[in-house]
Amino acid sequence: TVTPPARPARDAGLTDRPRRTRRTPALRALTREVSLSAAQFIYPVFVHEEAHEVPIATMPGVSRHSVEGAVRLAGEALALGVQSLVLFGIPGHKDAHGSQAYDEGGIIQVATRAIKDAHPGMTVIADTCLCEYTDHGHCGPLCEVGGEVTVDNDAALELLARTAVSQARAGADIVAPSAMMDGQVAAIRSALDEAGYGHVPVMSYAVKYASGYYGPFRDAAGSTPSFGDRGSYQMDPAGGYREALREARLDAEQGADYLMVKPGLPYLDVIRVVRDAFDLPLVAYNVSGEYAMVKAAVQAGMLDERRTVLETMIAFRRAGADAIMTYHALDAARWLREDM
Ligand code: PBG
Ligand code: ZN
Repeated sequence: TVTPPARPARDAGLTDRPRRTRRTPALRALTREVSLSAAQFIYPVFVHEEAHEVPIATMPGVSRHSVEGAVRLAGEALALGVQSLVLFGIPGHKDAHGSQAYDEGGIIQVATRAIKDAHPGMTVIADTCLCEYTDHGHCGPLCEVGGEVTVDNDAALELLARTAVSQARAGADIVAPSAMMDGQVAAIRSALDEAGYGHVPVMSYAVKYASGYYGPFRDAAGSTPSFGDRGSYQMDPAGGYREALREARLDAEQGADYLMVKPGLPYLDVIRVVRDAFDLPLVAYNVSGEYAMVKAAVQAGMLDERRTVLETMIAFRRAGADAIMTYHALDAARWLREDM
């Protein structure tokens, strides 16, 4: 133990002493601006058509689950106060048009029904994209433009709209289009309305960058493109704020109910810019590579997991995110509970 020297009899006459209001934990808690609660987390869950759980090597603590496993995980999440999941499906069969994405018996549809049946209180968000379902791994069907093979934007719209409607029919509470096709929010909104799902919100991955941080997710979802990359549809990291604002504005105009910025940590500034320009609820996606970095450092004994993760969650909230999609959701919810 340290024996400190006695305090001087009189203090130097400083006018500002910010440390006064940081002296005790209770004083610090009294004026905290940023809050965090388990209900603000969205937990990503990978579901496949197999009967067993398969751990994902690049994402310690994350697995592909069977439908039954996903149902059980939903129960665990609810018990911790995490009331929202986003589902990613890994189909048993892939083809050029990603037909399992909009099949009534597709893995997302089956898993959504099972989770809603067992846990009606769980908010199920269905990721609406085709890359896990196409044999080439791109986010829509292909076509040739100017001698280059690329994703056929307008053909993708029709398939994304069909996917969203079948997800809503299966009971999804929210559909979340992540394909970065032009016009996807409008196409999905009008298809949902026409099919009688006017009450189902669209959570748009509005500002989504072409990112190296998606690497572990693509291992998990088996969605690495078989050729090329997603640079012709996802955003350029150096694109700047005008492009981010334009993407967000177009989605807002097309009827998005939530906006999302993705990845999260490298784009905290973009979260703040979007927060200040729009009055829609805003979601930050703390993506797979961000999760993997923390896990790797923790496993190497370099970081304290609990402190690092909770600090990261606070950073998203401080930047202006209302909700956070994160693979840390269950751990963070557990730690928040212990704090109370
Ligand atoms: C697919 C999709 C991706 C993620 C969510 N939906 C990956 C991609 O665009 O390749 C990434 C999530 C993560 O890295 O955690 N459209
Ligand atoms: Zn995709």
